[in-house]
Amino acid sequence: MVIIHYFKLLAMFLVTSILLTSAFSAAHSKNPSASSSIEHRVDSLLTMMTLEEKLGQLNQLSGRWDEKYITAEDSEMIKQGRIGSFLNVAGATNTRKVQELAMKSSRLRIPLLFGMDVVHGFRTIFPIPLAESCTWDPVAVQQTARVAAIEASASGIHWTFAPMVDIARDPRWGRIAEGSGEDPCLGAVMAAARVRGFQGDDWRDPSTIFSCAKHFAAYGASEAGRDYNSVDVSERTLREVYLPPFKAAVDAGSVSLMASFNEIAGVPSTANHWLLTGLLRGEWGFKGFVVSDWNSVAELQAHGLAASRSEAAILALQAGTDMDMVSRIYQNELVTMVCENRVSEDLVNQAVRRVLRAKFVLGLFDNPYRNSNPAREQSVILSKPHVDLARHVAQKSIVLLKNDKNLLPLSKTLKTIAVLGPLAEDKIAPLGPWAGAGRPEDVVTVLEGIKSKVSPQTRILYAKGCNVNDDSMGGIVEAKNVAQQAEVVILVVGEDAGMCGEGACRSRLDLPGVQNELVKTIVETGKPVVMILMNGRPLIITWAAEHVPAILETWFLGIQHGHAAADVLFGDVNPAGKLPVTFPRAVGQIPLYYNHKSTGRPYVDDNTSTSKYLDISNSPLYPFGYGLSYTTFSYSDLLLSNSRIKANDSLRVSIEVTNTGKVKGDEIVQLYVQDEFGSVTRPVKELKDFRRITLNVGEKRNVEFTLTSAQLAFHGRDMNFAVEPGTFKVFVGTNSAELLETRFEVVE
Ligand code: GLC
Repeated sequence: MVIIHYFKLLAMFLVTSILLTSAFSAAHSKNPSASSSIEHRVDSLLTMMTLEEKLGQLNQLSGRWDEKYITAEDSEMIKQGRIGSFLNVAGATNTRKVQELAMKSSRLRIPLLFGMDVVHGFRTIFPIPLAESCTWDPVAVQQTARVAAIEASASGIHWTFAPMVDIARDPRWGRIAEGSGEDPCLGAVMAAARVRGFQGDDWRDPSTIFSCAKHFAAYGASEAGRDYNSVDVSERTLREVYLPPFKAAVDAGSVSLMASFNEIAGVPSTANHWLLTGLLRGEWGFKGFVVSDWNSVAELQAHGLAASRSEAAILALQAGTDMDMVSRIYQNELVTMVCENRVSEDLVNQAVRRVLRAKFVLGLFDNPYRNSNPAREQSVILSKPHVDLARHVAQKSIVLLKNDKNLLPLSKTLKTIAVLGPLAEDKIAPLGPWAGAGRPEDVVTVLEGIKSKVSPQTRILYAKGCNVNDDSMGGIVEAKNVAQQAEVVILVVGEDAGMCGEGACRSRLDLPGVQNELVKTIVETGKPVVMILMNGRPLIITWAAEHVPAILETWFLGIQHGHAAADVLFGDVNPAGKLPVTFPRAVGQIPLYYNHKSTGRPYVDDNTSTSKYLDISNSPLYPFGYGLSYTTFSYSDLLLSNSRIKANDSLRVSIEVTNTGKVKGDEIVQLYVQDEFGSVTRPVKELKDFRRITLNVGEKRNVEFTLTSAQLAFHGRDMNFAVEPGTFKVFVGTNSAELLETRFEVVE
């Protein structure tokens, strides 16, 4: 009997180690045998660890940004093996010093994991993720994440708390800036691209860093767009809207996820066993580790879920939250809880295994200082290729919202240009929220970009006009006088970086302060006005949309904001960005998104007995997927390979796209589908694929897509994911509102 038992154990060990290889995606390790040796090393280390040392691996503290970077108390805890990770300790030299404490003074010499929010660049700051998503270009997005990893890893960072993949349908929520907008398909593509960029394809490459898909899950559905607020979505909405980008991140091999602050239908994610263990590990097969959000373990008490810190510790650990970010609850409460048998040490061991496995995979036990390399740091930070990429991706992130009478592009030899507005020479706003190690001195302002672009004979006049967010009107008259001296006015308005990101939610979304008054005053001069928006969310710009002839949405584009904006303003780059999020006409319309349900009384403008308002139409100011170009494109000949298919068949969709304008340009061709009838109601349309193409003047291109059953399936009445027979509409076009359509049928 004993022999059989032994062979069963051996078989289980071998199967486990083979399965775990997938956790860190075998492609990475290049030598699959490494995984079994890693499991062996984890096992043998675990047997040597005290309970305090195990809990140390689950304890993450934050460094200080000032020169002291960690406290004397932290240093002592490192020597005692009671800290496993730090966030906000960066720099090749800093991290080496802190790592040396663990490697030279602690009993077991377990290396520390250094994490940081490297969300859209480390020192070379790229466009905010919402802006980058306007490129609809996963290759470009993967490249910027790769550069972020190259720079962060050279400065001691092993792990970034990114990509943020929260779907957001409410622009009042400040963190919409950090994600990829309202659509699960585009969000999933961007999530996978960023994971691939951060993690690279070989753990032995010192430039790879762990990604951390966040915030798991449905944080973007916070009620009323108020940060940290309650979320109450159905499981079907969770699975169809909010989870796909996380699944894409897990499938792309993300080594970690971060549990979100919010509850979902009464259960805070940090303590949600169904989410963190049942779905993430059971259904999806995730083998990495989960970190809490900042202090979110302790916040289970404020949620009213845990009556004490020790109960919070138990609930979070049992749910599947492996590492406790800064609350210290695991470190301080779980020893007693294990000793009193209120939580099993096996749960602690499982969490510790996941963390140790990650440290082994990253090679930290073999080279704990692999990322603390001052020479590499010096050579890669802000290198020319990195800065060039920042400019290139910033150009692609710009969305042309309006261009009446082809006012744009401007001539570089205009005699006099007035550059006005509170953000024209702002060096901080372009960095956006979560600006990593970015510095204002690295930023090219819009004013600088314009000055470097125009001819030596062109006179550039400047006036600030007003501040971003106060009611002082004193500068408006001066701005008006400056405008009257110019042939064209470029007006740079919007939000400052502190008005979006975490905790920065707004109840009103129009231009802050007295910027609207500035815009109206300048428009009333009768001069041709180009409005440049610098912002982190859709704004209510309904008046400007009617009265300003040209509008460029430039978001926060990072260190090359000014050059990229000038490249587009003066025609060196033809803009092709498309909105990843709907622009409403009024806050009262929110939430307003394209993939809505039909309802039993679909909107009819002049019928109050339909789903509508008395005082405004349901239509957005600018729809999802919208963006203009300096050229024009026409769509024709939408064809399907079949009009009837079986559930498991795929369907080819083709369309002709022609550049009917006067300049070469990129177009992002979008494919949407509507399942017209189902066992549950379905959205009026859903993005299923897209293709960015470049067309010369007069060039016609046949663009083909393949629709698969996985793209037609959904969670039916029984929650099974399947394709249901029936008629489907296929839409292809330039945005979610301007589309050609046709139909096909799925038959049994
Ligand atoms: C913050 C954010 C999270 C970030 C973490 C560490 O509260 O919610 O996105 O990664 O703390 O800075």
